[in-house]
Amino acid sequence: MPRDVSTPAGARAVTAVAPAKINLHLGVGDLRADGFHDLLTVYRAVDLWERVTVALVDGDDADDDEVVVTGPGADQVPTDRTNLAARAVDLLRSEAGTDARLSIRIVKGVPVAGGMAGGSADAAAALVATDRLLGLGLGRAALEERAARLGSDVPFCIRGGTALGTGRGETLAPLLHARAEQHLVVALADGGLSTPVVFAELDRLRGEPGGARELPGAGGVEPLVEALAGDDPARVAGVLANDLEPAALSLMPALRRTLRAGAEAGALHGMVSGSGPTCLFFCADREQAIAVAAEVSETGVAREVRLTRGPVAGAHVIDNPQQT
Ligand code: C5P
Repeated sequence: MPRDVSTPAGARAVTAVAPAKINLHLGVGDLRADGFHDLLTVYRAVDLWERVTVALVDGDDADDDEVVVTGPGADQVPTDRTNLAARAVDLLRSEAGTDARLSIRIVKGVPVAGGMAGGSADAAAALVATDRLLGLGLGRAALEERAARLGSDVPFCIRGGTALGTGRGETLAPLLHARAEQHLVVALADGGLSTPVVFAELDRLRGEPGGARELPGAGGVEPLVEALAGDDPARVAGVLANDLEPAALSLMPALRRTLRAGAEAGALHGMVSGSGPTCLFFCADREQAIAVAAEVSETGVAREVRLTRGPVAGAHVIDNPQQT
């Protein structure tokens, strides 16, 4: 018998949001037997959000199980059951032992295929919303365990803040002292880059499949962790790193111009975000970020430029979505 899925509050729909991530440090190690690479990363959640509404659908309603995606780049997002939010909903629905019909609405706020975990944020928000809607009462740890089954970055999109990521990125340790705020400019590129293709390009550049490359161990991020505990944005900017950047630049050489434009505009540091092609420019404060955004925008090297800041919280339910 399917379980009764009426929620404790009797809600028929729940909306949750989840943030984009950036990697302040992204160290990539060996290709593993399971097709993933060992990572040593410092994640930070930034103020760009995916919004996901999961709703119970009445039995005779035609839009059963539909996935509707709106916002910038929505046409590039699958609306079948391979959609990461749909996979999250399906996972919890089967765990709840219900065949309740659930519709999913996604409003994109994170660049699609941009190296900022937009799809992972959809999965994270969908997990949090479905947990509430079905009254499952899974705690953070249980949700993060489900999240890890959906993608390497999904647990962090649930957790938010700033965290050390190891394994394939799914094993998290919070960096509680990394509170110093950061203001940055996000430069979106024309087109996206596929994460597996960028990892494969890095392996190729390293000379052999699975290119032998040891991670330096957690010590490799100590200067960054120490800098994040202080309040000097220039010191933080001096120790940012992304092993995937050469691979993204090799696949999309035009990104060099974007990085140059940010440097010429006076940003403290510019780098490719994760697997790219989005570029990030770290600034001293909000005023500088506004100036850098204007100048990069004027050069025409980016499809779109946005301002953001971090850290921000992880995925959470919005209680009055119509008011926000
Ligand atoms: O975990 P996620 O589904 O986001 O990963 C997408 C792809 O990125 C993987 O299939 C893999 O090719 C690559 N990847 C990797 N090493 C990681 C994370 C992702 O090689 N640690």
